[in-house]
Amino acid sequence: MAQKRLFTGLQPSGTLHIGNYLGTLKQTVELLKDADGLVMIADYHALTTLKDTEGLRKNIIDVARDFIAVGVDPKKTVIFQQSAVLQHTELAWIFDCLVTVPFLMQAHAYKDKVAKGLEANAGLFTYPMLMAADILLYDTDIVPVGADQRQHVEYAREAAAKFNASYGTTFKEPQEKVLDTVAVVPGTDGKKMSKSYGNTIPLFGSKEEIQKAVMSIVTDSTGDRPENVYNIHRLFKSEEALSALYTENKGKYKALKDVLAEDIEALVGPMREKRASLTDADVKAILKDGAERAREQAEKKMIDVRQKVGVTI
Ligand code: ADP
Ligand code: TRP
Repeated sequence: MAQKRLFTGLQPSGTLHIGNYLGTLKQTVELLKDADGLVMIADYHALTTLKDTEGLRKNIIDVARDFIAVGVDPKKTVIFQQSAVLQHTELAWIFDCLVTVPFLMQAHAYKDKVAKGLEANAGLFTYPMLMAADILLYDTDIVPVGADQRQHVEYAREAAAKFNASYGTTFKEPQEKVLDTVAVVPGTDGKKMSKSYGNTIPLFGSKEEIQKAVMSIVTDSTGDRPENVYNIHRLFKSEEALSALYTENKGKYKALKDVLAEDIEALVGPMREKRASLTDADVKAILKDGAERAREQAEKKMIDVRQKVGVTI
């Protein structure tokens, strides 16, 4: 049986925390081990909300570096920038001409962003068709994403079906893989870890920063064990190991936090080293190579698409 083709994308916005890693990145890395895959830095998607030239440039490099540091192997997996493969915006236009305004209006992500006060620019509105182009150009089978992106993959299927119905079978209908085994990683205050709540443990912080974040985990003296510490700790150690540890150290919150910080460090230390070993020049070379590999496949698909829609004369 042919290997499944996997495609995923990440917007270059902000630094990662252990919630992002345990929630999605870790599983994506696992899936990529046994799949033919592409990982895309969605820089044109980021333009729908970000207007910061230097910030975007830096974030693109950082996200690519983070992906490699957590274990995506650039020799095996194609890592590339969306803007470097022009076929994405080209195909997005063709999809824009196939779907209707009322259809795009039903996108939850669009409605949520506008409700939060983001500018309803036309790019934000047609965002799902650029994402459909990302996915469909590569005959993708599986798209690992967070639950918030499920509907966008449905939209990609719809775009494929519409195109196929109008012009003949061209695109494969992809399937989302919603990563939900570690549904919610709690933050230092016990609520969902999120950069918008300021309760994160940074994935690539220094040893001291991680130590500081762990020490700030909110504890109270009711109950047998510090729940907020335990709920993060159980993502790093088995229940058995923890049961012995928490019984031995009953009431000693500082000691338990020290062990948690060490356990996080054991995971993060090697990734941090890998990250530090990659210069900007290394990352740029990887992205350039990735863009060439992606472009070759994307252009093959577009030759067929241009012929089918009738612009090739
Ligand atoms: P944040 O909430 O910090 O802004 P993002 O929305 O950028 O995080 O999330 C990026 C990815 O990481 C998403 O796929 C999301 O599902 C996952 N993720 C973020 N926070 C958590 C968490 N606390 N637990 C599990 N997964 C998370
Ligand atoms: N929209 C996705 C997000 O914000 C990022 C993305 C862009 C993507 N293109 C994609 C994800 C294609 C999967 C497949 O998280």
